[in-house]
Formats: sequence, C-alpha cells, structure tokens
Amino acid sequence: MNDLLTGFEMTQQQALDLIALGKELKANPAKFAQALAGKSVVTLFEKQSLRTRVTFDIGVNKLGGHAVYLDQANGAMGSREDVKDFAANISRWADCIVARVYDHKTLVEMQEYSTVPVINSLCDLYHPCQGMADFLTVAQNYDDVSKVKLAYIGDGNNVTHSLFIAGAILGATVTAVCPIGHSPDAQILKQAQDIAAKTGATITVTDKVEDIKGFDVVYGDTWLSMGDDTPLEQIKAKFMPYQINQELLDTTGIKHVLHCQPAHRGLDITSEVMDGPASLIFDQAENRMHIQNAIMLTLINK
Ligand code: CP
Ligand code: NVA
Repeated sequence: MNDLLTGFEMTQQQALDLIALGKELKANPAKFAQALAGKSVVTLFEKQSLRTRVTFDIGVNKLGGHAVYLDQANGAMGSREDVKDFAANISRWADCIVARVYDHKTLVEMQEYSTVPVINSLCDLYHPCQGMADFLTVAQNYDDVSKVKLAYIGDGNNVTHSLFIAGAILGATVTAVCPIGHSPDAQILKQAQDIAAKTGATITVTDKVEDIKGFDVVYGDTWLSMGDDTPLEQIKAKFMPYQINQELLDTTGIKHVLHCQPAHRGLDITSEVMDGPASLIFDQAENRMHIQNAIMLTLINK
C-alpha cells in the first residue's frame, strides 16, 4: 500500500494493522512523539472541514512533524496551475499529500504525478480515513469486528462507500438503509460485495428501516453532502423516516450510535440520541486523529 485513495488498496491484514496501530497511538502518545520528526505533510482542501483539517494538523504535530494547510485561496487546483504541477511541486518539499477534493479524478491525477504518498481526506466517492476511524471506534467497543452488524442510515454517499469497503475488508456486516433514489453507487457496492465474498462480510442495501432490527450500531451522516445544492425542503419529508432518534433505537434494539459529523440536530439525528448514552460520536471524532496518524506513519515511514 503506497497511497490511500479508496480503501480498496488495503488487505485485511493491513486494515487490522492500522486499527491496532491507531489503538497504540491513542494509548501511548509519548512513544510516537518523534515518529514524524523532520517530516512535512501538505493538507489541501477544496471543500470545508472542521474535523479533518484539525485532526491532520494536530495529529502531525503530535508525531513531531509539520503540517502545511493549503486552501483554494492560494490558487485553485487546476485553475492557477495544473493538478499535476501541484503534485510535482509539493512532492519536492513534503513527505505526504492529504487532499480533500470535489472529484475523485483529481486524486488519481495527483497520485500519478506525486512521488510521495497521497491520502484521500474526502472526495465525491470515498472518505477512507473516516471509514477506518469508524471501525477503530467499533473495535474499541466490540472484541470481534467481524461479528458486528452496522447499519448506515440516510443518503448513500462517500461515507457509505467507505463503510462498505472497510466493512468488507474486515469481514463485518454493513447494511445501508437509504430512501429510494438515494442508494449508494452500484459499482462500488459490487466491488465491496466481491471482497465480502472472500472475507465472510455481508454488504447490503435496503430502503426498509425494519431490516436493521437486531443490529449493533447505527450510523448517520448529513442528508446533503458538500457540493449537493438540492434545497433541504425538497428532500426533508423523504428523509425524515430515516432520522436517528430514540424510537429507532427502541424498535431496532440498536445499542450504539455513530455519526461522521457535521450532524444536523433535529434532522439526520436528534439531540437526545447524539448527547445520549448510546452515542460514540465524539470518540469517533477523536479517533479520526489516531487512525490518520497510523495511516501517515504506515505510508510515510514505509
Ligand atoms: N467527518 C468529517 O470529515 O468532518 P469535516 O468535514 O469537518 O472534516
Ligand atoms: N457525506 C458528507 C460527509 C462529510 C464529512 C459530505 O461529503 O459532505
């Protein structure tokens, strides 16, 4: 594994190793205080961010390295200069590129012209750092991740795809419950199911909330992803039955709740659940930093 663009790059052993290293980084930060000493990471953002920006910046710092934040005010990629020139230049100075982009193709081009590892920190199709942080969070609460049944509920999107991919590699059950017309990408679903056939995972899609009765974890995301200009009022009625609320927990028996955030309280999740005892949401946000540090250490110090 040289880069992390989709998650499909990982073998099961590599995914398990990243989770183990993420746990170790969290438990023994002092041991890794100089692990990236003298190394620099450029974090590029075409879209907004709270968690990703802060966790990469502070995360690199905690490993003794240096992070440089670049937003589009310094020249939009592909506009002031070509994506390939961004990649070629940054590769001469930095040891890793982390990029949040609109179009997955930008990352593919960046990887082609970069001589240092490229990490996808969200694109239209994938959010692999999120998916791995989510399974680190699951692994901290369940001894055997392969026995866990996780239900993603809401819009079939980049986060759904990354949960499918990480879940398939790790042998877990991941079901996406999405309103009709908002299903995940069929090709990515098929690719994840092909991996699942080998690992014993179960990866499925439904539009029926009753199909997740008896699941362990329910997972939410925004109903409208960044770059989607659909007015909320146009989709709200369709999505309200897919809200994460106490009634959903009561009727399904689900014990734990995840949400990648940003959350929209009163829409995709209620405050009662987000702030309640079932919520692992802020552990999950913290875990972004630990798993990303594990990913950077693995790719940079290869
Ligand atoms: N979950 C996540 O990626 O959050 P940000 O968009 O704030 O980085
Ligand atoms: N699906 C969301 C995730 C945000 C972290 C988006 O792409 O906006």
